[in-house]
Amino acid sequence: MIPSIFSAVLLSAGLSAAQTLPTDLIGTWSSKSNSTLTGPGFYDPVNEKFTEPKHTGISYSFSEDGHYEEAYYRAIANPTNPKCPRGIIQWQHGSFVKNDNGSLSLTPIAVDGRQLYSDPCLYENAVYTRYNTTELFKQYEVITDPYHNIPRLNLYKFDGEPLMPLYLAFSPPQMLPTTTLNPLTTSTPGGAKATGKIKRSELPMNHNVINKRTPQELRQNQVWWFGVFLTASGGVLYFFF
Ligand SMILES: *[C@@H]1O[C@H](CO)[C@@H](O)[C@H](O)[C@H]1NC(C)=O
Ligand SMILES: *[C@@H]1O[C@H](CO)[C@@H](O)[C@H](O)[C@H]1NC(C)=O
Ligand SMILES: *[C@@H]1O[C@H](CO)[C@@H](O)[C@H](O)[C@H]1NC(C)=O
Repeated sequence: MIPSIFSAVLLSAGLSAAQTLPTDLIGTWSSKSNSTLTGPGFYDPVNEKFTEPKHTGISYSFSEDGHYEEAYYRAIANPTNPKCPRGIIQWQHGSFVKNDNGSLSLTPIAVDGRQLYSDPCLYENAVYTRYNTTELFKQYEVITDPYHNIPRLNLYKFDGEPLMPLYLAFSPPQMLPTTTLNPLTTSTPGGAKATGKIKRSELPMNHNVINKRTPQELRQNQVWWFGVFLTASGGVLYFFF
């Protein structure tokens, strides 16, 4: 039997028959402030450096060949001490598929993700770590926003809770190279630390609440707090695990 063009495409992208690459997702999407955007303006993998956007927000890009990139710039409320907001910047990229039940699975290139965490009242310096978490969106929809009259992406988290609406910022998407940017062999702790690129002025400070993304988030938090603990000894910590 001659395989159809459709199944040939699926096979070449490494997809199972129950997975597809939806075309309506293609582009760079950003939350309302439109200042957190994926691409080289957010994360510089060569210098291991984040550029703090003007406003908090999130951004997702999806390419037609099944790659995604995400940029998060969030603040975490600190109810016990409102003067001490904690901020977090996260970046990941990898591949995505649409499953046959309509959900989206995002699988990062685990060695490439980065997180910068700031808690200025507790620690003098931000904590820069590797970061990786898979994501499952239960469903999504692309509509024309009735108020702004531009394409809008509604993503629903694994538990059905909607993410903030995302608006189309670029099409085609604005993304860093979709291949592995930081092979483990070059991620030696001493090497990155020596460059000392992360400055205090680049740290986020705002008052929104971080999203819980997957059931694995709990495990991520353990890794994250381990990193924070280590910074108590002072200095910018480049913690590769
Ligand atoms: C939908 O499919 C994905 C991938 O197979 C799976 O992880 C997820 O649990 C499914 N969701 C529901 C609600 O069945
Ligand atoms: C990515 O995260 C998972 C789950 O926390 C962990 O088991 C894995 O070791 C991580 N991979 C890398 C390369 O950091
Ligand atoms: C978002 O910002 C980008 C880059 O500055 C711009 O090209 C785009 O038109 C903006 N989109 C909206 C909806 O404001």
